[in-house]
Amino acid sequence: MDPAAEEARHLGLRFQQGFLAGRRLSAFPWAHESIATEPLDELYDVLADILNKEESTTCYKSYLLPTGDSVTLSETVAIISQGTTGLVTWDAALYLAEWAIENSAIFSNRTILELGSGIGLTGIAICKTCNPKAYVFSDYHHCVLEQLRENIHLNGFVLESETGNHTKMQSQNQRTEVMDLQGPKITAAELDWDSVTKEQLSQLQVDVVIAADVVYDPQITSSLISVLQQLSASKTAGKPPEIYIAFTVRNPDTYHLFQTELGKVGIGWQVVPTHTKNLFLYDLHSNITLLKLLA
Ligand SMILES: C[S@@+](CC[C@H](N)C(=O)[O-])C[C@H]1O[C@@H](n2cnc3c(N)ncnc32)[C@H](O)[C@@H]1O
Repeated sequence: MDPAAEEARHLGLRFQQGFLAGRRLSAFPWAHESIATEPLDELYDVLADILNKEESTTCYKSYLLPTGDSVTLSETVAIISQGTTGLVTWDAALYLAEWAIENSAIFSNRTILELGSGIGLTGIAICKTCNPKAYVFSDYHHCVLEQLRENIHLNGFVLESETGNHTKMQSQNQRTEVMDLQGPKITAAELDWDSVTKEQLSQLQVDVVIAADVVYDPQITSSLISVLQQLSASKTAGKPPEIYIAFTVRNPDTYHLFQTELGKVGIGWQVVPTHTKNLFLYDLHSNITLLKLLA
């Protein structure tokens, strides 16, 4: 393919990704040298119509996976709504999903617990691409859990708690049966870091724990650390779980507080090298770090 055609194909792909992921119009690569002609007036009219429309509070976004499949999510438009940050997908969730897809062996045939899952991007991407044995999504906010469960269904998965209904669905729909029998056991648990007990955590028997963008508020750091401490002391088949935490460093003080508090409970960490393939659209200049915790 000649370079101009290749560039045009790449540009088209960036538009497609941006459109499906519901990016702001201003984030699209409008001003690009490969567009030699002026856009049509009709296009400007349509754009003006769109910009004048009242925004709805929720939308559907699709994130394309390298398998050709996608993760489709119902998300809110506002970054904080219902008093929670959990109803949108944050950059660290996309980063963690990209890293997981590149390191799928860590998740394959294992039981995963995700803390503060929000509406499910990372976990659904892992369930679709990394072949986990079981995946426990968790959060504490009831609106977030409701939207998370809706998104799990939207992507063709059935929750373990619905396996009674599942038999009925199987006889009605052969495709669902095949997908569910092969897929991971999925749970969406209400798990509040302030009140969950050591027994509840160790009953989950997890091999891997992950979380994205849960280090943003000094007020919630101590309860998160206590959950991480309890998890790192638990054992599954004689081994403690591997724990990975991804977050955007917005305020260095919050990051340092997290590290200091980890140190106080005897948990070390190492920075995990970044993955090579950028699959999703997010701000590549935002300072995202992935830590592996060392008990
Ligand atoms: C910034 S959002 C990140 C959501 C998702 N992981 C992402 O990156 O898109 C933080 C999440 O942590 C959850 N959270 C905050 N405090 C919590 C607590 N005490 N127990 C459980 N989850 C909590 C919120 O409900 C929210 O879903």
